[in-house]
Amino acid sequence: MSFCVRVNASKQYDVIIRRGLLNECGRELTKLGARGKICLVTDDTVDALYSARAAASFASSGFETVKFVIPHGERSKSAEMLIALLRFLAENDFTGSDTVAALGGGVTGDLSGLAASLYRRGVRLVQMPTTLLAAVDSSVGGKTAIDIPEGKNLVGSFYQPSLVLCDVDAFSTLPETVFSEGCAEMIKYGVIYDAELFSLLSDKAYVPSEEAVARCVSIKRDVVEKDERDLGLRRILNFGHTVGHAIELLSDYTVSHGNAVAAGMAVVTKASVKSGFCPEECYTSLIKLLELYGLPTGTKHSAEELKTGILRDKKRFGDTISFIVPEKIGSCREMKLPTDKIEEFVAKGL
Ligand SMILES: NC(=O)c1ccc[n+]([C@@H]2O[C@H](COP(=O)([O-])OP(=O)(O)OC[C@H]3O[C@@H](n4cnc5c(N)ncnc54)[C@H](O)[C@@H]3O)[C@@H](O)[C@H]2O)c1
Repeated sequence: MSFCVRVNASKQYDVIIRRGLLNECGRELTKLGARGKICLVTDDTVDALYSARAAASFASSGFETVKFVIPHGERSKSAEMLIALLRFLAENDFTGSDTVAALGGGVTGDLSGLAASLYRRGVRLVQMPTTLLAAVDSSVGGKTAIDIPEGKNLVGSFYQPSLVLCDVDAFSTLPETVFSEGCAEMIKYGVIYDAELFSLLSDKAYVPSEEAVARCVSIKRDVVEKDERDLGLRRILNFGHTVGHAIELLSDYTVSHGNAVAAGMAVVTKASVKSGFCPEECYTSLIKLLELYGLPTGTKHSAEELKTGILRDKKRFGDTISFIVPEKIGSCREMKLPTDKIEEFVAKGL
């Protein structure tokens, strides 16, 4: 089955979801009128698995491909790696008509997207997600970022890709834990927006299907089209992320993004139940689904520690912090909490 989700943001682009797409990425790119050079950015794990396939497809469509390989893992979302990539583009004489193609998970996509937005004030970007998380979330919507020691994603830009090519066959090589991390983001969509999706996720066989990915991408598209710059509605996508990013930071990024988001969703939902914002059933059904996918349902960090991490997060606006709280499965709202109330709220969720 082939799905195409069209995103009408500041740039219009298609998200194509199909099996075997990595063998056809060159042809899909030529349909945009692209020619010239491609910088294929990937991490060492994905490089060994899928680079050759993508490069062969680009070559057969007449592109010259150079490859920039980063070590896998969050630490590659660094200022040093960003500069190295920008210099690599310059050393290889990339011009405004050339393309950066991000083949990999969210780390590769976020770093490549930021580099593409900065190099010559913007070159064409193609996202080619190979993790479930990148497919359903990070490759769509145009948020790019690197981390700095002071906090995660603190340096970034809004920069929409020109095309997203998602070959769901790539999920077959994902380690189970990495696959589950993508499920955390899908569960997020279910809680905040789509109660039917939440139910469908209780069937594990549904998750890696083209249809499931397209459904999540369509939700993200709906939200991004209404609020591309994260000024209002888009913040609902941060459900679980305020606490999640704090957990990532406190663990020095040894806890993955997906696991941290899962724990963050559990903490905030429990705190929401105790605060009377949503029924108990919302929390119990969330925990059941997180457990089904082997995802964490809590954190070892204290409310005081979490507060320290949360205060470093970019969801801080002056002396308030934005939390997304569920009202029931399929619906949520933003709650702006004064910074001096964070610890009390978070403690209810532990
Ligand atoms: N820009 C956004 O809107 C947005 C949204 C959500 C998350 N993110 C970011 O995304 C990142 C997390 O993304 P991720 O979970 O994809 O992490 P990741 O990119 O680190 O990938 C996880 C691991 O899977 C490996 N891998 C990737 N594809 C594979 C495949 N097909 N087979 C086998 N191994 C494979 C990678 O080498 C890596 O070790 C975080 O940095 C997070 O902040 C960004």
